[in-house]
Amino acid sequence: MILFKKASDINAHLSELKRNDSSIGFVPTMGALHAGHISLINSCREKNNITVCSIFVNPTQFNDTKDFENYPSTLEEDINMLEKSGCDLLFLPDMSEIYPDGIKNTPAYDLGYLETVLEGKFRPGHFQGVCKVVHQLLQIIPCNELFIGQKDYQQCMVIKRLIESANIHSKIIICPTLREADGLAMSSRNMRLTEANRKAALQIFETLLYLKDNLSAGDLSSLLAKANAKLSSAGFKIDYVSIANADNLQLITEWDGQTKTVAVIAAFLGDVRLIDNMLLNSN
Ligand code: PAF
Repeated sequence: MILFKKASDINAHLSELKRNDSSIGFVPTMGALHAGHISLINSCREKNNITVCSIFVNPTQFNDTKDFENYPSTLEEDINMLEKSGCDLLFLPDMSEIYPDGIKNTPAYDLGYLETVLEGKFRPGHFQGVCKVVHQLLQIIPCNELFIGQKDYQQCMVIKRLIESANIHSKIIICPTLREADGLAMSSRNMRLTEANRKAALQIFETLLYLKDNLSAGDLSSLLAKANAKLSSAGFKIDYVSIANADNLQLITEWDGQTKTVAVIAAFLGDVRLIDNMLLNSN
């Protein structure tokens, strides 16, 4: 695996490979890698000649400075995992490579409704930060395919919108969420859970299954109230438990029995914020 720190160096290297018709796949990450990230690398390798991964903990997407400061960092292990996975190139930029003009004067992105609900509502500015970094990374790494995990369901939609509106020639490939044996969605933040909270965390998955098993046409308020109660009694401080249209994230309070839906949850255990989602009435 070749490691690049300079944007101009990796861009020159990839542009040359592209001229020779290599297909380039890209997996952006914030490090603290786990098997979920490696499954993205594997999917990328299956479909592309060259697999690029980036590790950059992007300050502009953290609406809470404590969350940024506490974000886990395991660089040596990350590099070992990537080497073993067969990743070809690792981009490890510092701030000045991603934000050469600083973070103040960066453009704003029109994300419309997506920025007003769920993660957009509870983490103001988060998706602007995601767009800034992903846009910049895609300018540096001219990939054919960009691999993102379904665990960040709303982020996938935001990045799709960014790619369309900025006319970027990369195809987004959304890969399924990888889960621990008991069902907890893999996340870099899981490593910050205490032993007791790690056990309690499973309730997010259980609650999603409960919503899936009990979804029926009509008013959803009592189903959602029961889901909220399950999480609260397991010790969660809840940001939201919602059911939304899976295609546009419009919240659904009365289900017509047909619309494709997704259940989405964000909740804290201690100071660790976990998110997860599940498609309810399709695959
Ligand atoms: O999903 C993530 O890890 C981050 O939001 C991303 C896409 C790498 C941008 O920093």
